[in-house]
Amino acid sequence: MHVGNHGEPGGHVPVMLRRVLELLAPALDAPGAVLVDANLGLGGHAEALLAAHPDLHLIGIDRDPVAVERSTERLAPYAARTTLVRAVSDELAEVLAREGRTRVNGVLFDLGVSSPQLDEAGRGFAYSYDAPLDMRMDTEQELTAHVVVNTYSEGELTRILRDYGEERFASRVARLIARERAAEPIASTKRLAEIVREAIPAATRRTGGNPAKRTFQALRIEVNGELTAFERALPQALDALVVGGRVVVLSYHSLEDRLSKHIIAERVKDTSPPGLPVPLPAHQPRFRSVTRGAEVPDEDELARNPRAASARLRAAERIREPE
Ligand SMILES: C[S@@+](CC[C@H](N)C(=O)[O-])C[C@H]1O[C@@H](n2cnc3c(N)ncnc32)[C@H](O)[C@@H]1O
Repeated sequence: MHVGNHGEPGGHVPVMLRRVLELLAPALDAPGAVLVDANLGLGGHAEALLAAHPDLHLIGIDRDPVAVERSTERLAPYAARTTLVRAVSDELAEVLAREGRTRVNGVLFDLGVSSPQLDEAGRGFAYSYDAPLDMRMDTEQELTAHVVVNTYSEGELTRILRDYGEERFASRVARLIARERAAEPIASTKRLAEIVREAIPAATRRTGGNPAKRTFQALRIEVNGELTAFERALPQALDALVVGGRVVVLSYHSLEDRLSKHIIAERVKDTSPPGLPVPLPAHQPRFRSVTRGAEVPDEDELARNPRAASARLRAAERIREPE
């Protein structure tokens, strides 16, 4: 599970901050530049970007009302240069249209959950606290982890645990969940963690950290529709870029990273039919990759913030206007 902002006593360290600043800098130096931070969280990356670019306007999006409230406080010194919106990232094009800014110079995605979401026991994200099964980033949406755990079929649960949690024992965990909930609804994080523990073979339990970790990650991704939102949001971000504009994606899960890899790969491709003597402008790529493969945090960062270990960073730049 990813925690974006851990490691400094009492503070929050944004993941791969130096690299994010470096990759976005060429795009944000244009006068009147606009950046969308599509996962505002506590505003850590946002604050550093606003400090580094005195002329930058930042549009921050987060679906969690608490994140918007906290980052509004944190970014108060930059209030004149920020627009903070509670929205889902796949509403990016709508948010931009409402702000009257259809093209932007940069977009940052820092996917996953934030430390307050994990660390506030009552939100039901963490197996380390006992709380009602909730896990909603948007506290007003209807789907909760309680609904997923108690109403999804055993087959659906197996798929979610396998695909989103990479849980080897997905079907065993799903089977035990189905059996236990038939006797009594599974209402708390503690009860669910106990069930997962019981479902996993004892020999495996002794290695690889808390066995509930993968199940909790899978449920969180399902409850918040994280992959679907990102899959819709990234193309909108790429479409919105001006020439020279850049998108940077920090992902924490192989499925998220695979999505960003594929979506970017489609855009950087030359689609000219093979064998043409002269390349056709209409088929030339509109984008280029700025990173080679996925970049990972360096050892210093991992020593300071071991929970950044799963981070993968990719970036792309628009090099031509759309036809
Ligand atoms: C890892 S945190 C971002 C941390 C931030 N970069 C910082 O430095 O403080 C991810 C944030 O994205 C938000 N989030 C996740 N999925 C979202 C989505 N589809 N739309 C909007 N916000 C989302 C979460 O609520 C969370 O606050």
